Amino acid sequence: MNRTRICSASEIPPNGMKSYDTDIGVKVLVVNTGDTFYAYQGLCPHQDVCLDEGFFDGSVLTCHQHLWQWDITTGEAVGLAEAPLERYDLQHEGGEIFVVQASALKVSELFKGVPDAAITRLDGLARREEHDAQSTLYSMGDPADDLYVLESGRVEFVIGRDDRTSMAGFMLKKGEVFGWAALLEDHPKRIAKAECLEKSSVLRLNGEEVLKVLAEEPMAGYLVMKQLSTLITKHLRPSGGK
Ligand code: FES
Repeated sequence: MNRTRICSASEIPPNGMKSYDTDIGVKVLVVNTGDTFYAYQGLCPHQDVCLDEGFFDGSVLTCHQHLWQWDITTGEAVGLAEAPLERYDLQHEGGEIFVVQASALKVSELFKGVPDAAITRLDGLARREEHDAQSTLYSMGDPADDLYVLESGRVEFVIGRDDRTSMAGFMLKKGEVFGWAALLEDHPKRIAKAECLEKSSVLRLNGEEVLKVLAEEPMAGYLVMKQLSTLITKHLRPSGGK
């Protein structure tokens, strides 16, 4: 779990909001309702517009660009909005605002329900990596040794080579897992290229080390394998294949 200072509470008046570039690699919007402070993703999930340029009426946040709206107490979409806002746990202490981030493993589909002890062990194996936009995480034919969990940013998958390539989807939600072939026994090669579309932060775990922990933690092992089979089924549909 990471705690990061964002700002002083006095910088944001009641019914005001402000966004900040942070050390956690994402822009964070802090909103003051007068009673409570909230922290959300700083960019609109529609088209990456800064949300602090929008409107806040004390309960509903509106993006000025195409008028998507969200309930400020939950981040749930209201009216036209088609996606919720990602909310961050916030601590208000000594006049300072902090954001507390749970491990991306905790919110990952693959590790859902895994006991905390196993998550802590897996977290200990994870290397946190920051990648600039246009960085390639892996290419077709590379050994599938590691699996990745997205913390922030956006990663795109491309299949094919040279000028005969096609998009195979993208990921942008914290906790989304890719490169899961690293958990398969025969060490397959990558069948897609993974490239960051924007500055992205990922957790990178060696597949063999993860399997070792799962073998020693039977409940975690059962859940992860069950959820892995669901993930594989989902990605074997026509546009999948990471
Ligand atoms: S960019 Fe925010 S609603 Fe379209």
